[in-house]
Amino acid sequence: MLTKSPKGTKDILPNEVYKWQYIEKEIAKVCENFGYREIRTPIFEHTELFQRGVGDTTDIVQKEMYTFLDKGKRSITLRPEGTAGVVRSYIEHGMASLPQPIKLYYNITAYRYENVQKGRYREFHQFGVEAFGSEGPSIDVEVISMIDVLLNRLGISDIELNINSIGCKKCRSDYNAKLKEYIEPKLQNLCKTCVERFDRNPLRIIDCKEEHCKEITKDAPALVDNLCEECHEHLEGVKRGLENLGIEYNIDKNIVRGLDYYTKTVFEFVSKNIGSQGTVCGGGRYDGLVEICGGPPTPGIGFAIGLERLLMVMENQGIEFTAPRSTDIFIATIGDKAQNYAQKLVYDLRKEGINAETDLMGKSVKAQMKYANKLGAYYSIVLGDNEIDTNKAFLKNMDTGEEKEISLDTVIDRLKNIKAESVIKEPNKIGHTEI
Ligand code: HAM
Repeated sequence: MLTKSPKGTKDILPNEVYKWQYIEKEIAKVCENFGYREIRTPIFEHTELFQRGVGDTTDIVQKEMYTFLDKGKRSITLRPEGTAGVVRSYIEHGMASLPQPIKLYYNITAYRYENVQKGRYREFHQFGVEAFGSEGPSIDVEVISMIDVLLNRLGISDIELNINSIGCKKCRSDYNAKLKEYIEPKLQNLCKTCVERFDRNPLRIIDCKEEHCKEITKDAPALVDNLCEECHEHLEGVKRGLENLGIEYNIDKNIVRGLDYYTKTVFEFVSKNIGSQGTVCGGGRYDGLVEICGGPPTPGIGFAIGLERLLMVMENQGIEFTAPRSTDIFIATIGDKAQNYAQKLVYDLRKEGINAETDLMGKSVKAQMKYANKLGAYYSIVLGDNEIDTNKAFLKNMDTGEEKEISLDTVIDRLKNIKAESVIKEPNKIGHTEI
């Protein structure tokens, strides 16, 4: 028990963390290109925020939240998603009085007590975006196009965009009546949760994951066919906008999303090739949420991409990640004098931005060179008393085997030049540069 991480959580180890760092860097670049600024909110919030925000008839709130009383007897919940916290922050910091739209992004961990399976975890990572203050379809198109740009930059090709509209308060209430009329005769065949939701939030029944409930509701009337004029026009605007940018989409009448805050546009990016957890990204508009959480009426829209799933899609597609930069130079040593010299030399190299390593284990010189190879060092130097006394040593290119005698006091400048040159040519490999 003690030596195993809790069910549904995973360590990200040094030999894979570079993939995450690469994706996070690309995310930050795309957000900068689109004018979205990073926001960081707490991992936990007052439970009520999610009850109100995400909705107390959703699976997330009813079944999946990590909720506990803190020592002050406050009910606290680990965030199951990012939107509610960002909305709370938007209200708390009076962002509604700043020039709109407010465009924010975040990279977070989120927590849901889920049935664990491939692509479904209890702690997972989301990259999310929230844009407040704009009600026209152009911001819907903008946030969707951000995802499109990110997926393209990452080289992902096997993902489809599905969109739908689930209307506003007005069309929802007319539609709910129709849906209830359709469901009522079959009510006793639905699961217990669906029966409970029938009066309070019948749309949730459409989103039930139980196979027999899905079968019963598969021919139920769709909200997108029952939109009010304004919501219909909004959806048409989104479609025209996507077409204008050349972004392909499908209309999927079945998308209702698992969170209650959505209005009008909802969308998902789905990969068909990674099995049942193929939804890499979900999002939509939430025009009532800021008000529900105690702020002024404010339109909003956003999405979140599950990073574990994104990585799965990339690996499945055979996308190669830029390997991490290994050690630029390893200084091997023979004897105490050389070891002291090397410790100072690697310190000076590191201060200059060169990745340098030396022996810390008292290994033999042979074992040190073996280790340097394992580290993938691009260059090496072996130092003994003689090298230090004569101020001369051989700088070796570990890839080609080429060796050149150099003055020890020029090592830092040489490495700096080599690195500067190679950064321009091939940023992740300095070893190709001649000494
Ligand atoms: P969501 O659909 O619940 O939406 O989650 C978004 C994405 O997070 C999913 O498409 C999936 O990739 C990933 N995800 C969700 N649950 C898990 C899990 N248990 N394990 C691994 N990955 C998971 C939201 O969270 C909304 N806050 C999105 C949003 C932002 N809508 C508007 N703004």
